[in-house]
Amino acid sequence: MEIRFVIPCLLGIESLIAAELREMGARDVTAENGRVLFAGDENILARVNICSRYAERVQILVGSFEAQTFEELFQGVRALEWENWIGADDAFPVKGYSINSALFSTRDIQAITKKAVVERLKTKYHREWFDETGPVHQIQFSLNKNTVSMLIDTSGYGLHKRGYRLDANGAPIKETLAAALCSISHLKPYHKFYDPMCGSGTILIEGALIARNIAPGINRHFSAERFDVIPRRVWSEERERAKSLEREAHDFEAFGSDIDSASIEIAKANAQRAGVDGLIDFRVADVRNFSPGTERGTLICNPPYGERMLDLSECEALYKDMGKAFAKRHGWSYTVISPDEEFETAFGRKADKRRKLYNGMIKCQAYMYFK
Ligand SMILES: C[S@@+](CC[C@H](N)C(=O)[O-])C[C@H]1O[C@@H](n2cnc3c(N)ncnc32)[C@H](O)[C@@H]1O
Repeated sequence: MEIRFVIPCLLGIESLIAAELREMGARDVTAENGRVLFAGDENILARVNICSRYAERVQILVGSFEAQTFEELFQGVRALEWENWIGADDAFPVKGYSINSALFSTRDIQAITKKAVVERLKTKYHREWFDETGPVHQIQFSLNKNTVSMLIDTSGYGLHKRGYRLDANGAPIKETLAAALCSISHLKPYHKFYDPMCGSGTILIEGALIARNIAPGINRHFSAERFDVIPRRVWSEERERAKSLEREAHDFEAFGSDIDSASIEIAKANAQRAGVDGLIDFRVADVRNFSPGTERGTLICNPPYGERMLDLSECEALYKDMGKAFAKRHGWSYTVISPDEEFETAFGRKADKRRKLYNGMIKCQAYMYFK
């Protein structure tokens, strides 16, 4: 079955998703602002949910059309083949958003979409009433410049929730963004990998998962596992496929430290749950005393941001000390993600490369030093 999909993602990582999708065998991959479209079958649906490192979720694109009035919206929704996905007993709640469109009241769009889907399913299932006691098929609409996209979510809770991070310190980075930082820093399975402000350990854990090619979603469930139209065997095939691609990473070593001992305890427990604790050495240390024990290294960190942890002047003093600690060394690269526009001034060196990324709604830059 040929299915069209949409992946919503953090701004700035669309191209990474497009690349991983192509590698997974997805077709017609197109990256847009904040989302990536592609096509594939049921196996691809399961594969992307289990294996994507950067996607926020995977949605089935039931259809899209233009609408500027509620009547056009109603007719457009009713014309779509919802019965291909939603069974007579399934639940189908509706939510979504509208930007730059004539129809802007999300409550009204939601109510009309629900009514139109019900009308469609009434004619298909010859029923007047739906109890919706079955598996949830979350309908998600988006209106952008009067183009309506009607989607069904297949992931359930967001794909950044891998299942290993039950505890986080005060300001954890999103797992998808941590994985993206590893990718843009060209982390390899033979690297010596450092995060000297590791908090709950997310960047190191994502790096270790990449090194061992462990699929981030291997230990969790997805809402589409309960969809009747997707055979159960698809999920077991794709879990087996992902398992078969895991590899050893004998040369990979990761080193995590943080000034806060409670964070280090959390990081250790998270790494254990992720199955990569054997690859990461954790200790309590001040980044100002950073003195690596390896000749080469790849370092990625996410220092405090001013808003959440330290005030801005304290942060900039810390960035200055980091600039000294992360000295230019042959065989080393440093990536620091920060929303502070003055980061380079405080750090004391212009980055060799910068990349704009969003940590949720916070616009950040990854400052990369490798020369
Ligand atoms: C934004 S958080 C990092 C979050 C982390 N990436 C995660 O996913 O949980 C910044 C971290 O820097 C640590 N930190 C602050 N000052 C430090 C210092 N001087 N040396 C080492 N760590 C420090 C904090 O304890 C905090 O855990």
